[in-house]
Amino acid sequence: MTIGILKEKKTEKRVALLPEVVAELIKGGHEVLVETGAGDAAWAFDADYQKVGAKSTPRSQTLEAPLLIGINAPENDEMSKLKEGQIFAGAINPLGEHALIKAAGDAKLSVFSLDIIPRTTRAQAMDVLSSMATVSGYKAVLSAATLLPRFFPMFMSAAGTIKPAKMLILGAGVAGLQAIATARKLGAVVEVFDVRSAVKEEVKSLGGKFIEVEGAREDAAAGGYAVEQTDDFKEKQRLLIHERASAADIIIGTAQIPGRKAPVLITRETVAAMRPGSLIIDLAASSGGNCELTRNGESYVSNGVTILGKSDFPSEMPTDASRMYGRNMLNFLKLMLQKDGTLKLDFNDDLIKGTCVTHNGEVVSERVKQFMV
Ligand code: NAI
Repeated sequence: MTIGILKEKKTEKRVALLPEVVAELIKGGHEVLVETGAGDAAWAFDADYQKVGAKSTPRSQTLEAPLLIGINAPENDEMSKLKEGQIFAGAINPLGEHALIKAAGDAKLSVFSLDIIPRTTRAQAMDVLSSMATVSGYKAVLSAATLLPRFFPMFMSAAGTIKPAKMLILGAGVAGLQAIATARKLGAVVEVFDVRSAVKEEVKSLGGKFIEVEGAREDAAAGGYAVEQTDDFKEKQRLLIHERASAADIIIGTAQIPGRKAPVLITRETVAAMRPGSLIIDLAASSGGNCELTRNGESYVSNGVTILGKSDFPSEMPTDASRMYGRNMLNFLKLMLQKDGTLKLDFNDDLIKGTCVTHNGEVVSERVKQFMV
């Protein structure tokens, strides 16, 4: 099988597969074409890929490979020019990118998106959402430590006692839990909100204080994800978050609901009640933000509070983010690639089926279909 690795768009520093993963594919009997310069921004150069046996090829030639690997999808017009039956595997946000899915379906491509892989135990080694959320939670806290005009830990010095920084984390999924662990290591005091009571023990075990709002809706059918809350709950939560936010030095927003707009948990009134010099880092920025004032991809100051809307932290830690993504992708590809160097799509495998977005000109993912109506 010939596998093509595409260079990502300019603003993305990650690459889908680093040379260490490419080496394994080549050992498995596959030919790998790497678009020229694909790994440059992640410090993996053409010569490094060539050393493990890959060929450096221009984009036009790479795009001819029957199996294409990327992170973000190619542009819609490029996607629609690919040949019928070609396979693309990436993490393309199919719950939101409907025009792209249509273009891929019309071109009769088989598209697999690892960000919709079922979150089962067997899928853990392929779970790119968890890998990238780990990077985001970690980097968000380090960025907060750099931007905050205060220390994180408590200090007792001859110049007096300095109180520890107070952090409020909204959402205790993978990113939120990583943020708690990183902030605690740096000595901050951490409070955490989530609508899923299941995370309470995890939050506590990492040294965070779980702030509970009674009456959250939970749905076992949501596969461990959060669901939309009632207006009554939202109002109770808003009041409590307002109170805790006013006392916080840093807020990290990670609360999301797959395929929907992120819940707005920090209103403009809450921002106005925060101390000047405090900070909001909103990881949910690309899906609308947990703060009413978040601007995706921007940092600005409102009433003395710095608001950073940032959903692309993984791109700022491209080496390890690419390493994790590539390992996840390799584990997924192993479900398809055969020992004799061929490829087989076994739709009886729940992970292949659950990750497939389009095949034979149809949108096949039930989850994606629900979001396209
Ligand atoms: P996510 O990125 O979808 O959301 C982040 C967090 O925000 C979640 O904990 C969610 O409950 C919370 N949230 C949503 N709305 C909220 C609101 N209004 N107020 C406060 N918090 C709110 O979550 P992520 O990190 O993708 O994890 C989702 C689930 O998947 C978790 O149950 C996690 O344990 C599970 N999971 C399972 C895996 C597996 O078994 N392979 C791997 C990774 C995660």
